[in-house]
Parts: sequence; C-alpha cells; structure tokens
Amino acid sequence: MKIVRTVQDLRAQISEWRAAGESIALVPTMGALHAGHIALVATALSAADRVVVSLFVNPSQFAPHEDLARYPRDEAGDAAKLAGAGAHLLWAPSVGDMYPDGYATQIAVGGAALPLEGAFRPHHFGGVATVVCKLISAVTPNLALFGEKDFQQLAVIRQMVRDLNLPVVIGGMDTVREEDGLALSSRNAYLTEDERYVAPMLYKAILQVAQGRDPREAGQALLAAGFAKIDYIEVRDAETLAPFVPGSGRPGRVLAAAWLGKTRLIDNVPC
Ligand code: PAF
Repeated sequence: MKIVRTVQDLRAQISEWRAAGESIALVPTMGALHAGHIALVATALSAADRVVVSLFVNPSQFAPHEDLARYPRDEAGDAAKLAGAGAHLLWAPSVGDMYPDGYATQIAVGGAALPLEGAFRPHHFGGVATVVCKLISAVTPNLALFGEKDFQQLAVIRQMVRDLNLPVVIGGMDTVREEDGLALSSRNAYLTEDERYVAPMLYKAILQVAQGRDPREAGQALLAAGFAKIDYIEVRDAETLAPFVPGSGRPGRVLAAAWLGKTRLIDNVPC
C-alpha cells in the first residue's frame, strides 16, 4: 500500500488509475481504525477497482474545548491494518497540506445539520462538510463510504453532495458493534473499565425507544445506570432529521448522545 501526503502526489496516482480505466472508492477516516473502518474498506474493495483511505484528524470539526489534542493517533498501526485489509493508497495529509496559510473557505450547512449534534456542537458539521468536500474533490472517487454510527453526519454529507451536485455516490454502512452492543468508536478508548461496563446501556436504551418506550424514561434509566448527562434521545425522520411524525409512513431513526464520565457517546438505530 502506497502512502502519500500531498494532493499533488495523490493526484499523480489517481491519474494513473483513471488512465487505466479503473474506478475508485474513498473511505474517509480520522484514524484510530477499528473493525468498523475495516468493514468499510472491505465493502469499498468489492465495489471499486481501487480503494483510497484518507487519514486526517480534521481540526475544523472540533470546538476549542473538545478532544482534538487527545484524539487517539496511531498512523503506523492504522497503515498496517489498512495494508492487511487490502487498501491501495493511504492519503495522510498534514494540517498545513489541508489548510495552508491563507485558507479561508468554509461550507455553511443547514437542514439536516441543524438539530441534535448541530445544536450541541454548532461548529461541527460545517467543519465535516468542508473537509469531506475537500477530500472528495481531491480524490474524485466514484463512491465514498461512511459508517451509520455517525448517522446525522451521513445525512449532512448526502445533503451536501445533492446540494452541490458533487459527482460521487455516497454509501452508508451498518454500525459494527461489540458483542455487548456497544457501537465501535475510536472514542471508546477514553472509557475507564467501569464506564466500559455501563456503555452498552446506551444501545439498549435506544432499542427500547425504537420499540415504543418514552425517550425521557429511557434517558432517566441511563442516568440511573451511571451516565452523567443526556444531550438528547430523540426519534427523528431518518432523511431530514426533522422531528418524526408518527403515521407519516416516513422512515424513522432513534438518535442519542450521552456523557459517560468525560466521554461523549453517540448511537442510533432505525425505528
Ligand atoms: O467520521 C469521521 O471520521 C470524520 O468526521 C470524517 C468523515 C472523516 C471527516 O473528518
């Protein structure tokens, strides 16, 4: 597997593949790769001739008080996992490559980006949309794949691609879970042993809401189990993220974000 840093080197390789008539899939990541990322790579390999994985911990999607500095980083370990999974190219730009001096452009997001995560992390989806747009315009993939673990992120990216007519197909893949139900996440590394034991309650709580339990009651149960704070547990329209209208025939989604000690967990299930 080749590793490149600059857009220039990336494009040189992409041009060779394009000249040979090969299709390209992109798996955007922030590294600290787990089985969920590797599942995305496996699907990408089955869907395209060449698989590019980007590894960039994007500063513009973190607020100053968030976990950018302590976000887990292990490029060598990630590269070994990706080579083992069969990815063809790892693009790992520096912050200076992505946002050089004088960089001044940001995508403003609305619609699906406004509620839930958008209310608690108002800067977040603008940063995500901007970097994903940059990743897509640099790689020019036929297909880009994202996990449903970040369900609202996926909706925001679909909305951006539609709104800006980006010539790429966006694919979403099921959340990969531990045996006890906890959704795989790079941030699970922050959990203490005791917190790790309680963490799967979040998944159980949203499954109960999907089966009709009152979301407030499910939130109370999480607080009783040891969660420190519930940012939200809500049923939403699965495409627009607007409040779900029962009987509308529209697909619904239960989404939640909750704090376990200093770690913020998010999860979602269909309903
Ligand atoms: O989901 C992630 O890891 C990130 O938000 C993404 C899509 C790579 C953009 O930085």
